[in-house]
Amino acid sequence: MIYRLLFSTLIRRVSPERAHELAFRLLRPISLISPLRRRVRRFTIPDDRLIRVHALGFSFPTPLGVAAGLDKDAEHFEELGALGFSFVEVGTVTPLPQQPNPGPILARLPRDRALLNRMGFPNRGAQAAAMRVRARFGETIVGVNVGKNRDTALDDAPADYARAAALAGARADFVVLNVSSPNTPGLRDLGAVARLRPLIGAVQEALSASEETAGTPLLVKISPDMSDEDVDAVADLALELGLAGIVATNTTIRREVLRTPPARVASLAWPEGGGISGAPLKDRSLTVLRRLRARVGDRLVLISVGGVESAEDVWQRVRAGATLVQAYTGFVYGGPLWPRSVNYALARRVWESGADSIEELIGVDAGRAGGSEGADAARF
Ligand SMILES: Cc1cc2nc3c(=O)[nH]c(=O)nc-3n(C[C@H](O)[C@H](O)[C@H](O)COP(=O)(O)O)c2cc1C
Repeated sequence: MIYRLLFSTLIRRVSPERAHELAFRLLRPISLISPLRRRVRRFTIPDDRLIRVHALGFSFPTPLGVAAGLDKDAEHFEELGALGFSFVEVGTVTPLPQQPNPGPILARLPRDRALLNRMGFPNRGAQAAAMRVRARFGETIVGVNVGKNRDTALDDAPADYARAAALAGARADFVVLNVSSPNTPGLRDLGAVARLRPLIGAVQEALSASEETAGTPLLVKISPDMSDEDVDAVADLALELGLAGIVATNTTIRREVLRTPPARVASLAWPEGGGISGAPLKDRSLTVLRRLRARVGDRLVLISVGGVESAEDVWQRVRAGATLVQAYTGFVYGGPLWPRSVNYALARRVWESGADSIEELIGVDAGRAGGSEGADAARF
């Protein structure tokens, strides 16, 4: 309530980038003082088995984590952990540092509870991220999302991914291959099996070459705009090549999912392109999750992301087959207390269901349609 008031009066007037920066600056002291951080974390994550899940070799006190893009340079994962996220996917990091795309890169579309971004992987490079991941001391589980530099040709992409994974993957808890961001030209072509196979092979080879990275779980992050057949093909490939899981989904380039008038979107005055996140992605993300679960069962860890705004959404994703669930836009709109409220509402939901733990409920709705799909899904 208070955050909503603040959002509609103050925060909306500040640019999204500036709002992020301010929030993280305020949170910094929490992350540095371990007893304070742990105390805050006890306030934001209920300490019981109701919402604990086990995956990728770790025990997650809640299935809720932060999606890639929010902590691009691995600088804030402990603050985010203190706010109530059990894990943070940092990045996307590329082998070499790079600047954002020129021009405006991020806009809020409040009418859609969405964000439109065309950042293009601004980051300080894999080496810098590796140093921060290496120096970590807290309890947050950290995955590293890797990509290629903007100027790297698609044919050379496997080497870029391998380099970024080998560098930034050291001491990371898992590595995610981002082949689904719409803001790096051609990147989404890497999601096609013919290109993805050699790319995964190169990264697996690079990870197994060092003791520090050998055995690190490897996942791939896919686009909501893939055809159903391509989703199946990636799922089959992930099984064949022994990946640990799939993150689904990234942002969409489809504008027809928006209620914001096209003239308003056009008035953002930026070059064509940009990915949409948040509420308009909810149904497609859930559909992709259901499809993946139907294909792979419990043989892969499915991390569901896209339009998660409430405990009810997390509940639905887990029951549809997700072991872990991530959010970005829902957190931006919901504010700093949002993860806490989701965790507590989720714990209450599990308790009311009579289950001992949410872990028992992973995939129980698989194969059933339902949910909020339907009219909205048809817009995709
Ligand atoms: C501003 C912004 C930047 C993002 N940057 C990345 C990124 O660098 N790498 C990536 O894999 N996904 C990135 N994403 C996509 C998110 O990780 C997520 O897949 C997507 O936003 C859908 O989740 P949401 O609806 O909860 O926001 C970004 C999203 C936003 C809004």
